[in-house]
Amino acid sequence: MSPSRIRVPDLKEKKSRGEKIAMLTAYDATMARLLDQAGVDALLVGDSVAMVVLGYENTLSVTLDDMLHHTRAVARGAARALIVADMPFLSYQVSADEAVRNAGRLLQEGGASAVKIEGARPVLGAVRRMVDVGIPVMGHLGLQPQSVHRIGGYIKQATRPQDADALIADAIALQDAGAFAVVLESIPEDVARSASAALDIPTIGIGAGPHCDGQVLVSYDMLGLFDRFVPSFVKQYANLAETVQAATRSYVEDVRQGRYPQSLSKLSVSDR
Ligand code: KIV
Repeated sequence: MSPSRIRVPDLKEKKSRGEKIAMLTAYDATMARLLDQAGVDALLVGDSVAMVVLGYENTLSVTLDDMLHHTRAVARGAARALIVADMPFLSYQVSADEAVRNAGRLLQEGGASAVKIEGARPVLGAVRRMVDVGIPVMGHLGLQPQSVHRIGGYIKQATRPQDADALIADAIALQDAGAFAVVLESIPEDVARSASAALDIPTIGIGAGPHCDGQVLVSYDMLGLFDRFVPSFVKQYANLAETVQAATRSYVEDVRQGRYPQSLSKLSVSDR
């Protein structure tokens, strides 16, 4: 029997029961299947795909077509986790109409159950329109990587009291506009705690301390697979970069030394 799919309302119910939500990013079917089978609640097809998979400098280069391609792959791999697709830069900021059309494609053609957008005030109209037509929206406040040029880097946010107050007001505005959850990235843990207490919808933290209702990490960081840099808040649960390189060195050596492949005549019957 296939496991029952986690739905958007399940996340709010988890918050009300005090159960933490575990979310990871995924970009392809094989990784989505592995993370899904390991019990993750939600998979984010993050626009971080730009950096960790596609080799871009930041998330701005990724297009809606890229996101559709990776969302379809994740949807094919995951049987149980809620699939949330990031809306890429400029796919929701220009107008509410464009936001609805583009988000609709991520659900209709990509197989996502929800979308994620960055920011609050400038996009509240778009959030309302998307929610009104049945598209669940996750917000994203604090460090917003699509605004890296305005911010001047990947810098901790809401460190001054007035910015912390503004962030909490933005989170409430997103909730009022119909968002079903909000990611809080790179903010002080006491601000994340206050935001989580102020909201009925769940907060999902990344670099925001332990008081959020759930956590999300870039899977390539958590697995030690992305080797360009490791954000300070990341816990690496494996070092797959090293595993991949060691296995590859062994393979290269075996091929060069003629140890792989073995001639079929040397294999026992049961190996064939
Ligand atoms: O794109 C992404 O991976 C994200 C997470 C950092 C939350 O937005």
